[in-house]
Amino acid sequence: MKTINVKVPAKTTSYPIEFYDTFATLKRNVKARLGDRKVLIVTDKNVLTKTKYFTPKERTKPGKNIVVLTPGEKSKNWKSIDAILNAAFENQLDRDSVIVAVGGGVVGDMAGFAASIYMRGIPFIQVPTTLLAMVDASIGGKTGIDCEYGKNLIGAIQAPEAILVTDQFLKTLPDIEIKNGIAEMVKHGVVASPKHFKALEKLAKKDFKTIRKEIFSLAPASMQIKQKVVESDLKEAGKRKMLNFGHTFGHAIEHVTKYKVPHGRAVAIGCVMAAQYAAERKICKWKLADRIENIFHGFDVDLTCKVPDEKLWEAMGYDKKKKNGKLTLILPEKLGKVRYFEV
Ligand SMILES: NC(=O)c1ccc[n+]([C@@H]2O[C@H](COP(=O)([O-])OP(=O)(O)OC[C@H]3O[C@@H](n4cnc5c(N)ncnc54)[C@H](O)[C@@H]3O)[C@@H](O)[C@H]2O)c1
Ligand SMILES: [Zn+2]
Repeated sequence: MKTINVKVPAKTTSYPIEFYDTFATLKRNVKARLGDRKVLIVTDKNVLTKTKYFTPKERTKPGKNIVVLTPGEKSKNWKSIDAILNAAFENQLDRDSVIVAVGGGVVGDMAGFAASIYMRGIPFIQVPTTLLAMVDASIGGKTGIDCEYGKNLIGAIQAPEAILVTDQFLKTLPDIEIKNGIAEMVKHGVVASPKHFKALEKLAKKDFKTIRKEIFSLAPASMQIKQKVVESDLKEAGKRKMLNFGHTFGHAIEHVTKYKVPHGRAVAIGCVMAAQYAAERKICKWKLADRIENIFHGFDVDLTCKVPDEKLWEAMGYDKKKKNGKLTLILPEKLGKVRYFEV
């Protein structure tokens, strides 16, 4: 078992990211962690029925301590939070109880946000089931819901007690979701690690079947980058915002398309847009913008974006990172180095 320790902002505690080979060992360790604490599990319909995490009985008839959300971004709303909180009350969860998120970024964000406000905050554990959630969303404690003004605008920072990972979940994950996760991994490479970017670039040259098989071997490097950036934010306030590379454009695309473009793909398009924007202003070389575009082509990520520029910028006006009327874009200068650029 490999463990990565992540320090919690403004707290002296840290939480582990643990890796397991099988569902059985993962589940045994979730159980061991829970001890005799009361637990509420949050998942979604796909994870419940398509993966082998839950027992056959649970799959057909989940118990009352399992909240099953409708899959997808549309579930990032108050209704889901309400459902989780109600289930927590019905199961008589107290301050010592735990919420376990078994799902992708949506489930993780919902379970985490609900845990952050139930009785003013109870612990929660992440069991990420998508590549995107493993390498990015489960780490760092950001949780939030979408509203009519934009994405993730309401939420809380709630660090998980632990993140328990198994690549077994990737077996049932559709290709498109593998690509969505890869988008965040490429982002990690661009903002923090030329080595990671180059490793991904090498993999992008292979056929998709091989990519599926080998991508998890690069996941720990991505997790470590996210963990390091989150930790460095403790010392240098605001460093974390480098992880928003591709996200200012990306969130706007998601919002304008009413979330028809999934988060990962929107981030990929956003990374290319940000890099081209930087190249046009000579902040980076065109060669870098081309490399970023090509790596996504190599991973067969659909980069088509039908959102007109004016709509995109209008939507970015609502971006919560907008400070004093100015919008800060995260632009690449070279691999591993970004610039905060105010517009
Ligand atoms: N909190 C953060 O720091 C952070 C960071 C990045 C992204 N996010 C958020 O994460 C969300 C995107 O996460 P996501 O891409 O995991 O989306 P998701 O949770 O919607 O999962 C994608 C799809 O895969 C299905 N699925 C999940 N696991 C599966 C499995 N093992 N087998 C088969 N199907 C499975 C889900 O049901 C869903 O249909 C966005 O809302 C984004 O804002 C949050
Ligand atoms: Zn993201």
